Amino acid sequence: MSTAFDHPTYNYKVVRAFTIMTVVWGVVGMGLGVLIASQLVWPSIFADIQYFHFGRLRPLHTNAVIFGFGGSALFATSYYVVQRTTQARLFSDTLASFTFWGWQAVIVAAAISLPLGFTQVKEYAELEWPIDLLITVVWVAYAVVFFGTITNRKMKHIYVANWFYGAFIITIAVLHIFNSLAIPVTAMKSYSVYAGAVDAMVQWWYGHNAVGFFLTAGFLGMMYYFVPKQTGRPVFSYRLSIVHFWALISIYIWAGPHHLHYTALPDWTQSVGMAMSLILLAPSWGGMINGVMTLSGAWHKLRTDPILRFLVVSLSFYGMSTFEGPMMAIKTVNALSHYTDWTIGHVHAGALGWVAMVSIGAVYHMLPAVLGRKPGEMHSITLINVHFWLATLGTVLYISSMWVNGIMQGLMWRAFNDDGSLTYSFVEAVDASKPGWAVRALGGALFLSGMLIMSYNTYRTVRASDREYALQANTQAA
Ligand code: HEM
Ligand code: HEM
Repeated sequence: MSTAFDHPTYNYKVVRAFTIMTVVWGVVGMGLGVLIASQLVWPSIFADIQYFHFGRLRPLHTNAVIFGFGGSALFATSYYVVQRTTQARLFSDTLASFTFWGWQAVIVAAAISLPLGFTQVKEYAELEWPIDLLITVVWVAYAVVFFGTITNRKMKHIYVANWFYGAFIITIAVLHIFNSLAIPVTAMKSYSVYAGAVDAMVQWWYGHNAVGFFLTAGFLGMMYYFVPKQTGRPVFSYRLSIVHFWALISIYIWAGPHHLHYTALPDWTQSVGMAMSLILLAPSWGGMINGVMTLSGAWHKLRTDPILRFLVVSLSFYGMSTFEGPMMAIKTVNALSHYTDWTIGHVHAGALGWVAMVSIGAVYHMLPAVLGRKPGEMHSITLINVHFWLATLGTVLYISSMWVNGIMQGLMWRAFNDDGSLTYSFVEAVDASKPGWAVRALGGALFLSGMLIMSYNTYRTVRASDREYALQANTQAA
């Protein structure tokens, strides 16, 4: 007899495993974030060890947080939500368990190959071709498990959260396959089948939609399930959620060229990218407002419920970053912001404020349930509260320092003297950026310490549940 909680209908084992790995990869990925942020303040850290240079650790940070932390959170919540909203067990336990081990193998392979210097040099798609093949196999298995469960559903209706998860799974498959098309030359080296401006276009079609579908659509699925659940109220407008879905997925896919303003890309494609980015504000805010308005009549719960605070603050940062993004997509604004820390600040308003906060809220909601405990029965609610404040303060310090740095860098780079020469050398702009980088490292350290508190809280909750169920199993056996 199992000594851990085993749900009679649902497969919570795989959800539990992905949930725990969300926390583990969160700590690893954000730990690497704090390390590379510190390297920008103190460049001598690991200066004589090639494996730990900034250039090798930076992609490891992005892979660990996006695919390790974010990916595990998406697997965990999608498997949880699809079972709860279809009232059917996952389509196949074996395939689900394969997706768990396969996905962990991908992240471990990234952690080994990136510091060794193996890379395809495509942002967020750095991993070499054998790892790309593994990703493809795992993803196909994921699609079979997810859509198979939907097919086996016990009711006619498919809840909107599943639409978002489904779009995320299908789109990521298409993006990954086309962007990764390459000719292998050795076991760990390949060349992209695309060249020049076409390669750039395909890469940012992928890169932007990695943001739109990996870092947004799946997390919106999370929002549509966990915000109503934690609030105890139905979604504010179900009709709006459907309009939101179709508008978001049909517009996101065109906005990629805003990453390539003023490059060799045809000018008209840049303009289309800019126009689509501006239009994207509407569905993004529609979704954000739908989430926030779900709290109508339940705002008082924010005073006592730190999990709800994580979810609501994540929506505020989502609203903020999806306002900032369209503004940065305007060519004249991008002329100032591009290549500067402003972009990095925007990224982390989305990544820390939105993606990490909504995932943390979902994990705190889901963990007691998959451990067979009462709603909200984590080891310590006070520690969740402390985590919330550390995360919020950390995010605010991170993004505000990057705004200041970004605008300063942009203005310094374009300042001219009367005789046409540059007012500042590049290194002067680097020097002026140092205080901002120190504040960013501090903000990151605060966010990371919140994650460490979460690990402790998770560990104690899992241990307590396992002890309770072991005791129960012994009593039944006696
Ligand atoms: C309406 C929504 C959004 C629009 C129109 C938008 C637009 C933009 C623009 C114009 C850039 C700067 C490109 C450059 O100058 O290189 C950018 C960068 C970026 N954005 Fe957004 N953004 C949006 C939402 C988000 C969200 C919610 C996230 C995260 C969850 C995010 C993540 C990123 C990332 C990772 C980059 C950096 C890409 C890179 O250069 O590596 N964006 N975005
Ligand atoms: C403790 C928290 C974190 C810290 C201290 C941190 C720090 C950093 C640093 C220093 C960089 C490099 C910036 C540069 O090259 O100038 C970076 C890049 C990046 N980080 Fe983080 N990070 C954190 C959390 C996250 C999370 C949770 C995510 C995603 C879910 C994320 C996604 C990214 C992305 C996409 C980039 C590349 C941005 C671009 O190329 O424009 N980070 N991070």
